[in-house]
Amino acid sequence: MKTILLTGAAGFIGSHVADLLVGRGDRVVGLDNLNDYYDPARKRANLAEVAEVDEDDRFLFVRGDIRDRELLAKLFFEHTFDSIVHLAAMAGVRNSVENPHLYYDVNLTGTLNLLEEAKKHDVQMVFASTSSAYGRTEQIPFIETDHADRPLAPYPASKRSAELLGHSYHHLHGVKFTALRFFTVYGPRGRPDMMAYKVLDNIYTGRHVPLYNAGQMHRDWTYVTDIAQGIAAAVDHPCEYEVINLGRGEPILLADFVKMLEELAGQPSNLENRPMLAADVAYTYASIDKARELLSYDPKVTVEEGVKSFFDWYRQAVSSTQP
Ligand SMILES: NC(=O)c1ccc[n+]([C@@H]2O[C@H](COP(=O)([O-])OP(=O)(O)OC[C@H]3O[C@@H](n4cnc5c(N)ncnc54)[C@H](O)[C@@H]3O)[C@@H](O)[C@H]2O)c1
Repeated sequence: MKTILLTGAAGFIGSHVADLLVGRGDRVVGLDNLNDYYDPARKRANLAEVAEVDEDDRFLFVRGDIRDRELLAKLFFEHTFDSIVHLAAMAGVRNSVENPHLYYDVNLTGTLNLLEEAKKHDVQMVFASTSSAYGRTEQIPFIETDHADRPLAPYPASKRSAELLGHSYHHLHGVKFTALRFFTVYGPRGRPDMMAYKVLDNIYTGRHVPLYNAGQMHRDWTYVTDIAQGIAAAVDHPCEYEVINLGRGEPILLADFVKMLEELAGQPSNLENRPMLAADVAYTYASIDKARELLSYDPKVTVEEGVKSFFDWYRQAVSSTQP
């Protein structure tokens, strides 16, 4: 049994990681500030679902901010952590263009605060990074040896900066640091600002949703429970310092992904065509050889299966609460 500090525990991916860790018998202290980037009611609903699998009271939720250094010091005084799984962040490429200071405060300074505690208490960190760190790389599939030094927006720049900071803490202080670069994660409890959710919102509520570049963009859609498995494997196999892709390795055209959702809904969407944004990339495609080798990572859920479970969740959890 391990004791894990899980930041961003109320979020989409964080709540699935909490389910997995608690379910296998770990103790989890979940830290999240429940901010209103999207409806905090969704995050409370995620926490309620974690509570359902937590039969032996292994999950402790703390509402708080990773920018609050006193709070972090108190948590590390009160608990002896084996690992930090650091998922709390301002996510979303496009929003970061409008709010760059917030993205750097949370994603970089917040990570620095946690690295300081990791250093003081000799705790390994598993850090949520992103495929967007690769920018418009020409190396396809995306591979970890790429320099990834041309991010296209403050969000990926902040994540790449945090990876580099992790390297300094490893080099200077011996902090074990594994950065996992996630590729377009989707599934139940998905974020309302992500495409899968927005397409269904467009169909069922008429929400205005732009479709960039007529959907002619490939994304390496990766189901959330596969990502959670990869994170748990990184907790169990502490690396000295590594950057590792977690994707599926089978990119699918956004236009085809939209079609799958329309077929399940039995009706077409009405998305508004817009030109490609400067902050966007046309392609994401993970090489997952390193994850297979170091973490025995093996994504199981096909996009067809994943889209169906996402659709079922949306109809049950989201549509049923809409007027
Ligand atoms: N979803 C994806 O496709 C994807 C892809 C690449 C990387 N990531 C990364 O994975 C992580 C989880 O993403 P997600 O999709 O679950 O997003 P999410 O927004 O659902 O989860 C992030 C959580 O962090 C919390 N948070 C934000 N700022 C905080 C702060 N200052 N203090 C404490 N808590 C704070 C939020 O309230 C939220 O619950 C993020 O680091 C994100 O950048 C996600």
